[in-house]
Amino acid sequence: MFISFEGIDKVGKSTQISLLVDYLEKRSYQVVQTCEPGGTRLGKEIEIILLESSVGQISDTAELFLYLADRSEHVKKVIKPALNKDKIVISDRFADASIAYQGYGRRLNIHWIEKLNKRATQGISPELTFLLDIDPELAKKRGKEKDRIENEEIAFHQRVRQGYLEIAHLYPNRVKTVNGQESIEDIHLAIRRILSEYLQALSEPSHYGQHPLV
Ligand SMILES: Nc1ncnc2c1ncn2[C@@H]1O[C@H](COP(=O)(O)OP(=O)(O)O)[C@@H](O)[C@H]1O
Ligand SMILES: [Mg+2]
Repeated sequence: MFISFEGIDKVGKSTQISLLVDYLEKRSYQVVQTCEPGGTRLGKEIEIILLESSVGQISDTAELFLYLADRSEHVKKVIKPALNKDKIVISDRFADASIAYQGYGRRLNIHWIEKLNKRATQGISPELTFLLDIDPELAKKRGKEKDRIENEEIAFHQRVRQGYLEIAHLYPNRVKTVNGQESIEDIHLAIRRILSEYLQALSEPSHYGQHPLV
């Protein structure tokens, strides 16, 4: 099973992924925790260029292609092999992030990004995506360290947030929006509930062979 977490910076993705991974591992599920950018060796190099780069300004299209290169390698080397071994893959960001950041944030053509995403992902899509949603003004107040993208103006982050909400609206069965302003524990419980409902639905007679979590 493939799960992704999405949302703007500091919304709580890393915090929630770590809680969910612990929860699943305690119940003996085999989980592969990964991320974009930086889920592979090549990806780590790309991440340095993207986020901490001293190369200066990166053009929007070059930025998109760097993320796609990271994703392509990530799918081939990490995600596909883990899914083939029936592991639960949990990725901190995936293809939706390019639509939200480079499509809505940078205003590149969304249909074009969708096509390129399809190539980079080899058609693999998360079954469940948790979209943590928060006002960028509030996110900004959490923590101080900033990378190149976090340093963008607030209007950029507002567009990214809007993009994510539109993706959630387009794919309501896959993308579950969770209010990132709730407490860490409440968000964790909401995520567990959504996952459990999803697995329960799978375990109904027409989907033989799956087991509910709780
Ligand atoms: N629900 C929450 N309420 C308040 N602070 C939170 C919440 N979730 C995470 N944080 C804090 O906000 C900061 C960013 O969280 P993090 O999980 O790193 O976000 P992301 O991975 O989305 O950038 C961290 O300092 C974290 O402890
Ligand atoms: Mg994080």
